[in-house]
Amino acid sequence: MSKADEVFIGAIDQGTSSSRFLIFNVKGQIVASHQAEYENHYAKAGWVEKDPNQILQSVDTVIAGACRRFNSLGYQTSQIKGVGITNQRETTVAFDSETGEPLTSAIIWNDVRTKDLVHRLISEAGSATRYATINGLPITTYFSAVKMRWMLENVPQVQEARNKGTLRFGTVDTWLIYKMTGNYVTDVTNASRTMLMDIKSFTWSKECLEFFGIQENELPEIRSSSEVYGTISEGRLEGIPIAGCLGDQQAAMVGQSCFEPGEAKNTYGTGCFMLFNTGETPIFSKNGLLTTVGYKLGANATPKYALEGSIAVAGSAIQWLRDKIGLIFSAAEIGFLAETVEDNGGVYFVTAFSGLFAPYWRDDARGCIVGLTQYATRGHLARATLESVCYQTRAILEAMHKDSGTELRRLRVDGGMTNSEQAMQIQADILGIEVVRPEMRETTALGAALAAGLGVGVWKDESELRQVAQSNVTAFWSGITEEKRNDMVQGWEKAVQRSLDWA
Ligand code: G3P
Repeated sequence: MSKADEVFIGAIDQGTSSSRFLIFNVKGQIVASHQAEYENHYAKAGWVEKDPNQILQSVDTVIAGACRRFNSLGYQTSQIKGVGITNQRETTVAFDSETGEPLTSAIIWNDVRTKDLVHRLISEAGSATRYATINGLPITTYFSAVKMRWMLENVPQVQEARNKGTLRFGTVDTWLIYKMTGNYVTDVTNASRTMLMDIKSFTWSKECLEFFGIQENELPEIRSSSEVYGTISEGRLEGIPIAGCLGDQQAAMVGQSCFEPGEAKNTYGTGCFMLFNTGETPIFSKNGLLTTVGYKLGANATPKYALEGSIAVAGSAIQWLRDKIGLIFSAAEIGFLAETVEDNGGVYFVTAFSGLFAPYWRDDARGCIVGLTQYATRGHLARATLESVCYQTRAILEAMHKDSGTELRRLRVDGGMTNSEQAMQIQADILGIEVVRPEMRETTALGAALAAGLGVGVWKDESELRQVAQSNVTAFWSGITEEKRNDMVQGWEKAVQRSLDWA
């Protein structure tokens, strides 16, 4: 095949701390990419926000960067047949349909400004899980509906737009697709994180809309995760269809080809999220996990569900050590620093900056470092930071066993922290099961590209997607005894109790 006949698929990966654009060939290999890191705005303790136009600009920047590289390799942008979007989930944008402009800052998923509102809503509802059999989720600060309600109660422009009938809400996928194509849509995975979608019928739930005080015309049309949502109207990708859309954790599930019930992946990004495929029926958790839509790859495709364990802080703790504390100069340094010590030396760091998510769901928990003695070094602190996400992963895995009745023997991992051999060894030690890391670690972007490629017919079915997603793997096994592991876990549980007691 000549160079001019090759076809490609693009993927926009809009995360909490960075945007990326990657261009994949039909074998699922990355041909060109560009990434831009950015800072969110922390206006007050517990607030995390970002100007939606800056999110859009960062996406434009990375598209331009990757396309320049692609062109320099001798390819034409017109050889990109479709674009997939994958995004930080739950983050909420409010905009005006008349001007197309944002009405206020986007409230990021890990923002806890809605803490008091959440307590009020829980007491109105009678319990946090009052609507969980409809939307799969407990009422917490995490999900979009409470952020929408907060905007309505606290931002006059949002209320004014409602009065005029021009208020539109959306998650980041909706905002990007709206600005890039003019169409007001979302996909089932992103909609499943709002608390407003009925996860069995894939429609906005009248009961949930009424409870949160949101109107249906203020929400986008719900579509599948793989179909054409519209054509990009300007810029370097003009004329190319957007044909795939998934929340980033669901995209990683597709990119790791977790297509069968019982298959699970854990992605270590800004936060860390484990998704366990439960097949065609949603399982409602009794152990603090979320029920979510895994994917629906086509308008008429059978949807797959997942149980999810969410950890609010993973990479963001490493970023904090780098940017706010100055313990390390680069994120990559943390693993090497952790390796300078044999164990945590009795130091535990509960990184509860946004409260504790699964399986605890305590928005009043706060970060704490315990067990310090004069023996403790920078190495112990680095190690305690990596261990924190690994212990939380273990707690989630135990909840998954209880809910699903299936004992997971191996965990597929991906995301920034998995680049650290030390972190993955610590994870295997703490879990006591095989931890499997693919060579191709851009699984989130790959998942979005696979959905888009399927949407425009570059790949034809799930079995082809599975082949494209094949990757060589590195396996990590525990190197410590069960006794040592139990001691470490007990120390962690005591530390968590301190973090909860702080409230
Ligand atoms: O639910 C929040 C999640 O989608 C954010 O992902 O990778 O930006 O931490 P990430």
